[in-house]
Amino acid sequence: MSSKKFAKESAVIMTEMVLPNDTNTLNNLMGGKLMHWMDVVAAIAAQKHSNSIVVTASADNISFQEPIALGNVVTLKAQVTRAFNSSMEVFIEVTAEDIPAMKKVMTHRAFFTFVAVDENNKPSRIPELIPETPEEIENFEGALRRRQLRLVLAKRMKPEDAVELKSIFNLD
Ligand SMILES: CC(C)(COP(=O)(O)OP(=O)(O)OC[C@H]1O[C@@H](n2cnc3c(N)ncnc32)[C@H](O)[C@@H]1OP(=O)(O)O)[C@@H](O)C(=O)NCCC(=O)NCCS
Repeated sequence: MSSKKFAKESAVIMTEMVLPNDTNTLNNLMGGKLMHWMDVVAAIAAQKHSNSIVVTASADNISFQEPIALGNVVTLKAQVTRAFNSSMEVFIEVTAEDIPAMKKVMTHRAFFTFVAVDENNKPSRIPELIPETPEEIENFEGALRRRQLRLVLAKRMKPEDAVELKSIFNLD
């Protein structure tokens, strides 16, 4: 397997229509259903980058500001932003479209982290990711401080070791 892959090689686009079974009593998309779709599209992006089985390690905060209505077409785009040792961060962007009304809105953006695992469910080494476009480079650079923040919150990193975080809060 190549030890380096381009960010664009992991890109995935998934399209769904909100059907009655997907909604709450207000006829809007259930939050849990949307999170399920986000998890699936992001897992496929992580698999494409790592060519491995992946598990969800964490999902960064997701807020629900815009309801997505019954009959809307939901497009989920996912792409790996950065690969570390066995883990990779995936950026997901969600848009909802009312096609008859010709209205389209971006409703959610989120970062999920996946870990590639081997046949014994042990974390396994993944290829390095190469960003190319300005947006990919920006996401790549931000990924290190987001990783440190989530590892500190998960109590997997000591705050004093989160060097990137310290630099944005001017803690030195
Ligand atoms: C995620 C998991 C594989 C980590 O295993 P572990 O034995 O703790 O492994 P490690 O401590 O060596 O960490 C492995 C990687 O996971 C990352 N990781 C662990 N917990 C994390 C978290 N909460 N958020 C982000 N990354 C995390 C580590 O930073 C490390 O990344 P790196 O290899 O790129 O440096 C393990 O906790 C697990 O299997 N969790 C359950 C996953 C699951 O069932 N998901 C839902 C269904 S898919």
